[in-house]
Amino acid sequence: MLSRISRLGVHALSRARLGQKSVNSRNQEEPIRACMNYVGNHSLCSATGAKVSDRSEQPKAKISVTFVDKDGDETVINVPIGMSMLEAAHENDIELEGACEGSLACSTCHVIVTDVDYYNKLEDPEDEENDMLDLAFGLTETSRLGCQVIASPELDGIRLALPAATRNFAVDGHVPKPH
Ligand code: FES
Repeated sequence: MLSRISRLGVHALSRARLGQKSVNSRNQEEPIRACMNYVGNHSLCSATGAKVSDRSEQPKAKISVTFVDKDGDETVINVPIGMSMLEAAHENDIELEGACEGSLACSTCHVIVTDVDYYNKLEDPEDEENDMLDLAFGLTETSRLGCQVIASPELDGIRLALPAATRNFAVDGHVPKPH
């Protein structure tokens, strides 16, 4: 009799353990289901099912910049974050001169930001940049020096027009005659 009770006890205990294991198995499946749901939404998840990151929220390593030449032809390039518009133009064979190679001693990298909203996103120009801009041909309210405009995520989609001409007084050593 005692032996039968013992066997029943062991049996009940085994079922209880199996039942427990079964519950645990279901719990272990939950993160997988949760993960699949997140993957379905183009997201990643951890083993616990928690959302870790979303690739679409990663900052872009490059931004799109459109250069518009003096004939109105457009060239769209991808510019790495941190690169100046002058460097980007040179890497992509865009005719932006940059005679002093970014040392703020000329105005040949003059660009015109076509959209004032993008212009307002830029850092204010330093005095040296304003001094050089004063020498630029065809100066506008949204003119900047391309070597001083640095690619940043908020500038994605910016359009830069190239002026019809440039002046190169400072680098050439040319001193304009007084009128
Ligand atoms: Fe000379 Fe920009 S390249 S000031």
